[in-house]
Order: sequence, then structure tokens, then C-alpha cells
Amino acid sequence: MSLLTAPDRRGTDSNKWRRYNADVLPLWVADMDFAADPRIADAIRARLDEGVLGYGRAMDAQREVLVHALLRDHGWRIEPEWLVFLPGVEPGFNMALSAFTSTGGSAMQELPVYAPLRAAPGHWGLTLREVWQRPTHGRWISDDAALEDAARASDALLLCNPQNPTGRVYTRAELEFRAELCLRHDMVLISDEIHCGLVLDGRRHIPIASLSPEIAARSVTLMAASKTWNVPGLKTAFAILPEAGMRARFEASKRGMVDSVNILGLAGMSAAYGQCIDWRDAVRDRLAANRDMLAAQLPAAIPDAQIQPAEAGFLAWIDFRALALPAPAASFFLDRARVALSCGTEFGEGLEGWARLNYGCAPELLEQALQRMAEAVQEYREQQA
Ligand SMILES: Cc1ncc(COP(=O)(O)O)c(C=O)c1O
Repeated sequence: MSLLTAPDRRGTDSNKWRRYNADVLPLWVADMDFAADPRIADAIRARLDEGVLGYGRAMDAQREVLVHALLRDHGWRIEPEWLVFLPGVEPGFNMALSAFTSTGGSAMQELPVYAPLRAAPGHWGLTLREVWQRPTHGRWISDDAALEDAARASDALLLCNPQNPTGRVYTRAELEFRAELCLRHDMVLISDEIHCGLVLDGRRHIPIASLSPEIAARSVTLMAASKTWNVPGLKTAFAILPEAGMRARFEASKRGMVDSVNILGLAGMSAAYGQCIDWRDAVRDRLAANRDMLAAQLPAAIPDAQIQPAEAGFLAWIDFRALALPAPAASFFLDRARVALSCGTEFGEGLEGWARLNYGCAPELLEQALQRMAEAVQEYREQQA
């Protein structure tokens, strides 16, 4: 049997499938439709079978699984005590801002970006210094001078690598430049690397903190099994803080809001990183095939829609501006095609003409959605003619 299955999620507790009416094809929130590797469920079942379900604390063996996985996958040698377990990456970057910045300060990041990352500086009384990425020769690139300007006025750099929504993977040179900015301008580095297990086409993800001991010493790196192994509902993640003083401040910033981690999430996470490599490789192949299918079919289905194929993950960031639709692109496709996308404005102001499409699904569903979207555009054009 194939490692990957995409069971029908209609009628389940899935947020993705419950938010809209049953006739809508949901290609919005960032979870995939694939059933998790059965070895993850086995590990959770085995933990349940122990019977006692008290408050947990990660065991040494669970830390070791991650230490080994980071070395295996990214060539990054970390120490077990650098790990701090969390109920999610989003609480992690908010805790980091709370721990390492002060109200009235500033944090910089590259836009468009995942909405909770964009919103986070505002939660902590910080000004967001925006640097806009532009599609350049098929890749999303930020201007170095604009990065330098923002860095001069910022206390923290929030990085999202691989990037959501553009799907770009930063190169070593790009990471070195950003690390150097942090060192030169005395910024703390908060790096959300939640999508790093899904780099495609044989690329290798480079954790920015692995570049040098100097950058490691001012960094918080956030990772999880949730995207790669499609277990985001387990709400379990981890931070890596190599510097002991920073780690203590980070732990202190839990401030009664973030408690211990779900024991079933820890069991699932260890199984994923430790045992489910063939599943991860299979999902990468599926995603690359879906991405390529979308890139091949979109120009014929919706001429004028622009896409830069992603280098990682399951998200396509699509520019529908040339279609001059009568509403934000996501609203247009929801109303007229019954396909739910994420609206561009979640990722930055003024992006109504853009939408993010989640292709982490069965290829048949993707084809069906594309067909519906093409028909909706065709119909609209006929009405306008
Ligand atoms: C870049 C990024 N960071 C964080 C998250 C959320 O992570 P969590 O559910 O662990 O808080 C997501 C989910 O889509 C994401 O894309």
C-alpha cells in the first residue's frame, strides 16, 4: 500500500473542511489532507496504553531523537539542553518577542508573510519594519539596502524560512547576510523554520543558527513535526536556544500562558523524526508533483495568473492581479468557484489581487479546484464581454 493516503475529511473535526459549506473545496489553511504515518499513531497508542496520563516532561530519549535528526537532516549539531518544548511555533515566536524586546522597540521582517508572524510585533508593542520581497528572475528576493535600513532601526529580525506564503528557501549567502545584519545591528534573531522538512528538489535547508557560534548565541529557532508529517493538531513544537542566558529568559517568558507540552504530541513527534523518513520523502515527491502540475496547468486554465513555483512546502502564492477581478481574488473564487483560498491581505496590506493555494492534497482534488476556478473566470469574462 502506498505510504500516502488522502482520506475523505468531510464530516470530521478538520478546521480546514469545517469552515465552509460542504460544496466548497478547501485549499486554504496550512494543513495537508494526507493521513499521518501509521507509526505516529502507533507511538501515540503505545503511550496511551501506559494508562497514566499525567503532566509530561520530555525524556532524554526524546531530546536525543531531535539532536540526531537535526544532524542527519541539516548538519546542525545541537546539545539536548538547548531544546525547549512548546505547544506551537506561534506561541514560540511570541514568547521570544516578549522575552527579548521591549515595548516601543521594533522588529523587522520580510513581507508578504504568514499572518500570525506579521501580527506578532504588534502584540508586544513593537513597530513592524517591513521589507518587501519582489519576484526577481523566478525567485522572491528582498533588497539588501532595504534590509540594512530596517536593521538599523530594529531590535529583532523575524525570519520565516522556508517562507510562507512564497515557498522560497533562503540560500546560504542570503542567510549569511541576514545573520551578519543581526550581529552588526545587535538584533536578536527569531527564525521560524516550521516548513524546513519539506524542502523540495533535493535542496538542503540551512538553519540560520547553524552558520556560526556567534549567530547561534543570539538566536531562537522554532521547528516542529507538524507541517512535515502533517500532525499540526498535536500542537507540539520546539525551540532551540543555544545560549543559556537567553534560554532562561525565554523559559521565564511563559508567564502563566504557556504550560507543559502534550505528552501524546511528544510521543508523535519522536516517532515522526525518528522513524518516518520514508513517509516524509514520499510526501515531498507528492508535493513536487502537485506543484509542477499546478504550474503546468495554471497558464492554460487561467491565463494571466502568475505563479513562481515554490522551493519548499505545499503553498502556492498566486498573483491574480492581471485578471482585474471585481473582488479580492480569494472572495471571487470562494463565491463563484466554491474553492477556498487564503486571501492575499492576510500576508500584507494591499494584496487583494493575490491568494495562497494549498496543494497538499490528492491531485484529483487539485485538478477539480483548478477546473472550477478556470470556469469561474471564463464565466465572468463572458458576462463582461
Ligand atoms: C510559518 C508558520 N509558522 C507557524 C505556524 C503555526 O505553527 P503552530 O501551529 O505550531 O503554532 C504556521 C502554520 O501554518 C506557519 O506556516
